[in-house]
Amino acid sequence: MLELKDVSVVVTEDNKKLQILKDINLQLDKKKIYVMTGPNGGGKSSIAKTIMGIYQPAAGKILLDGEDITHKSITERAQLGIGYAFQQPPRFKGIRVRELLEIASGQELDAENCDILYDVGLCTKDYLDREINASFSGGELKRIEIATLLARKLKVAVFDEPEAGIDLWSFQQLTETFQQIHEKYETTLLIISHQERILRLAHEVIVIDQGRVSEITSRDKFLADLEKMDLDCRCRDDCIKGEPVNAECDR
Ligand SMILES: Nc1ncnc2c1ncn2[C@@H]1O[C@H](COP(=O)(O)OP(=O)(O)OP(=O)(O)O)[C@@H](O)[C@H]1O
Ligand SMILES: [Mg+2]
Repeated sequence: MLELKDVSVVVTEDNKKLQILKDINLQLDKKKIYVMTGPNGGGKSSIAKTIMGIYQPAAGKILLDGEDITHKSITERAQLGIGYAFQQPPRFKGIRVRELLEIASGQELDAENCDILYDVGLCTKDYLDREINASFSGGELKRIEIATLLARKLKVAVFDEPEAGIDLWSFQQLTETFQQIHEKYETTLLIISHQERILRLAHEVIVIDQGRVSEITSRDKFLADLEKMDLDCRCRDDCIKGEPVNAECDR
């Protein structure tokens, strides 16, 4: 349903052009959960921003249900049913949580939207009429942003490190919420995460490294490989023993 075909993204920094995504090919099917992971700075958030239209590809195409949306604006993509929860959520100052959820869902708040606050671990009576301001913690903002995406019943929902800033107690509930929205609304979920518990939700795991798709694999294979991974660094052993550092060590 959502396809990225040979997508490259170039940004300009200090008057220099920097290619941050190279020939990205992804096919996200309806109703599936994808978890995107990989090293810091690999390009995961950039892919999310490209899907949302915040970054425009220098080359390649983006298709939604076969329709070319490469040149559609952020608003047009939102109307088509694509949503993105930022890694660092913006602060919508001077607006109440109730209003934000109403804008997101496009309707007056009903029992279902109250449930959505509960789903992200917030007590409705404490938050519904609270004005969003500087007093909100990072974790609270993150949950409210996740709730606005849940309210929209999207075709494709992209969550960028939803676990960041969320306490352990609510984290369990959040993983269950992802499972539920996927079942209830048939939303295709693309979750950027480094957490094993989130990886366990995935039908497929997409590994992004150095601006490229380095691997697309099943959850079971990914987790099995993770267990087998040799994380011992030989250079470190040499260093501890006071011996010359092994020049062939590549880690
Ligand atoms: N607008 C921009 N201008 C300059 N460089 C950028 C821009 N956006 C992204 N980059 C660079 O592209 C690379 C990928 O960044 P991105 O945020 O996509 O990584 P990430 O995989 O999400 O990392 P993390 O796991 O730390 O969140 C980084 O080196 C980043 O500095
Ligand atoms: Mg990121």
